[in-house]
Amino acid sequence: MKKYYLIILAILVSSTYISAQTTSITSYELFLDTDGNHINAHGAGVLYHDGVYYLYGEYKKRWASALGVSCYSSGDLYNWQFKGLALTNIDRPGHDIQPGAVIERPKVIYNAKTGKFVMWFHLELRGKGYEAARTAVAVSDSPEGPFEYIRSLRPNPAIWPMNYSQQLYNAYREKSNGSDKGFFNPGTVGDFLARDLDSGQMARDMTLFVDDDGKAYHIHASEENQTLHICELTDDYLDFSGRYTRVLPGQSNEAPAICKFKGMYYMISSGCTGWAPNQARSAVAPTIWGPWTYTGNPCQGTNPHNNLGPDKTYGGQSTYLLPVQGKDNAFIAMFDVWRPHNQQDSRYLWLPARIKDGKLIVRWQSSWNLSFFDQQ
Ligand code: GAL
Repeated sequence: MKKYYLIILAILVSSTYISAQTTSITSYELFLDTDGNHINAHGAGVLYHDGVYYLYGEYKKRWASALGVSCYSSGDLYNWQFKGLALTNIDRPGHDIQPGAVIERPKVIYNAKTGKFVMWFHLELRGKGYEAARTAVAVSDSPEGPFEYIRSLRPNPAIWPMNYSQQLYNAYREKSNGSDKGFFNPGTVGDFLARDLDSGQMARDMTLFVDDDGKAYHIHASEENQTLHICELTDDYLDFSGRYTRVLPGQSNEAPAICKFKGMYYMISSGCTGWAPNQARSAVAPTIWGPWTYTGNPCQGTNPHNNLGPDKTYGGQSTYLLPVQGKDNAFIAMFDVWRPHNQQDSRYLWLPARIKDGKLIVRWQSSWNLSFFDQQ
């Protein structure tokens, strides 16, 4: 008799498990992990390693400060299992990542040469608002962590970017002090770049990108969020090599994400309006160093939950462009819908993205699956 009970129990458990599996991606509503909890991974990025996708993001309660970086894993991009915190606050007064520190937009990449998983994230020091503008690095032997915190820094002290110089800056300055005074935006001219030259450049919203040749890049909003910097990392991915370039100077881009298709580089970004949504932007370049050409707003369609369309990025802000394995010209454009007064309830928009006529296109879909990419 007992045996039958056990069999029935086993059938019930397995059918619940099967029915809990999902085969679609649904945006804006609660995004449940395999335990039934709303995924807590904001400003996220994804690493694909050995057949598994790993999702990393800000693990938050109500406030902007994060308890650490969460990790979820999935084999199919639909069902995500919570793996715990890959990086946690260090409870030591004065420590960079003490409780209350702002840990944002974590991204993890794998270094094939060293066999290490390397995490970078935007760091703001406890009690200092957003003035520190630093980036921080941690390392692990396993994709799920624990990641060991290494240090934070402001990139590229005393180094001019590859596409700008002291001479060019002086020439601009001279001009703007003349008859056309006031014409030049300080962000375009590079006033903040020059101001921070010795101490290192500001680094706020960031992403990482690993190219086909194994070189990795740290891309971030710098110069008071006026200008993006694309910076090469060292071969072990643990430091900046010193080679970097300014992108779209003075045009106030943040929340950058990059993907590559057929040898071209595509970027999505947002404007700078804090937690409030604005209009997404896109750009394309033939090399990671540019030249980057602005290609307009990549978004199409409207989010029926809030009636917001492309002019407000459906209520979201970009965080990552995820290449779908095994499909051609198939990316998931990942966005956060911020809920600044209850951060853990912030929502996600994961939308299909493709390159069409040399431009990134993101299409609103309330609920969809990867067969979307099998259609034209
Ligand atoms: C946004 C940024 C977020 C967070 C927020 C704070 O502009 O993209 O990651 O830093 O500002 O206000």
